[in-house]
Amino acid sequence: MPNLEALASFEDFRAAAKRALPRILFDYIDGGSYSETTLKRNVNAFQDLTLDQRVMLDMSNISSEIELFGEKLAAPIILAPVGFSGMYAKRGEVQAAKAAYSHNLPFCLSTVGICSIDEVTQDAGKAPWFQLYMIKDRACIADLLAKAQDNGSKVLVLTADLQTPGARYRDVRSGMMRKLSVVEYMKRGLEGVMKAHWSYNVMLKGRPHTFGNLQGVLPENASFDEAWKWISQNFDPSVNWDDLAFIREHWKGPIVLKGIMTAEDAKLAVEHELDGIVVSNHGGRQLDGAPTSVSVLPEIVEVVDKKLKVLLDSGVRTGLDVLKARQLGADACLIGRPWAFALAAGGQQGVDRLLTLMKAELRTAQVLSGISSC
Ligand code: FNR
Repeated sequence: MPNLEALASFEDFRAAAKRALPRILFDYIDGGSYSETTLKRNVNAFQDLTLDQRVMLDMSNISSEIELFGEKLAAPIILAPVGFSGMYAKRGEVQAAKAAYSHNLPFCLSTVGICSIDEVTQDAGKAPWFQLYMIKDRACIADLLAKAQDNGSKVLVLTADLQTPGARYRDVRSGMMRKLSVVEYMKRGLEGVMKAHWSYNVMLKGRPHTFGNLQGVLPENASFDEAWKWISQNFDPSVNWDDLAFIREHWKGPIVLKGIMTAEDAKLAVEHELDGIVVSNHGGRQLDGAPTSVSVLPEIVEVVDKKLKVLLDSGVRTGLDVLKARQLGADACLIGRPWAFALAAGGQQGVDRLLTLMKAELRTAQVLSGISSC
């Protein structure tokens, strides 16, 4: 494990994760779709934003706390749903949830997490938010939602921008999304062995490597590759606004729609009485060429006019970025790759270190820009 105290920035966590993980997993997290243009722009767009530097204000008493869906959060930061996290560290979703909860921040569990919602709730001590991918089998969706609510999950994040998986060149090259030849398979095995810490903790001690939430739905005895193929083929491209009635029938708490990128869709989200939206291009993993989420945020905030909560992700790397998004009207930010890399780098302690840094960065940025409450 790296010296976590020496990791200061997103790039440090990324480099540590690159050392820790087999290439196939690092590329899966790091990559985006097509030429990865939107992915790069997501990050640059934040760097192009500025904050006013203010002086001579009493900033001895500041707060980053917010209230969101009836919960008090230590900062406007949420751990975004990230699939396969139990492959980045031993029982990864549980470790990340523990870190998030210790900082009084929400953790959102992906439909395609390795750990099930039961496991995360039991082992981390509290139910996560639950992210739903609409797969074709509606009975399965009803079961998933019932299970999440039985566990006490409060917020549903319905991801709308994965009607079909985006073309990710790195995953084709690495073999993440296709059957490997025998030689490639052996090379992959050898590389795994070379990553000794990962091999021991994840491959040996971190089993089972199944999609915990989809047990009983996936074909019986499906290998990991077969299971992923089944999932990819079962995303439902027919999903539309009418399907919200079905979701509402099966979910009683707040519903947040993830993947809104135009004022037009934001207006429809308001009309359909959703509780929140995530302005997101899926971290540049779906439609390459989509604008950056911060660039469309102001028009979306305007059209929403505080009628629902506006969350934002895609490119948030620092506490400074969180403050910039807040200044443009976002209620809170989700982070994806930052926590996935931190988890790979140092498990629960890695995510703890990342969140400590991000919260400190946010406070520092508040002080220097004269924003006493977030
Ligand atoms: C994701 N994301 C994602 N979103 C979702 O709704 N369900 C999921 O299972 C996943 N899985 C996933 C895996 C990996 C490896 C990444 C990097 C991302 C998207 C995620 O929730 C979020 O929208 C982006 O990660 C935000 O962009 P940044 O923070 O990674 O730039």
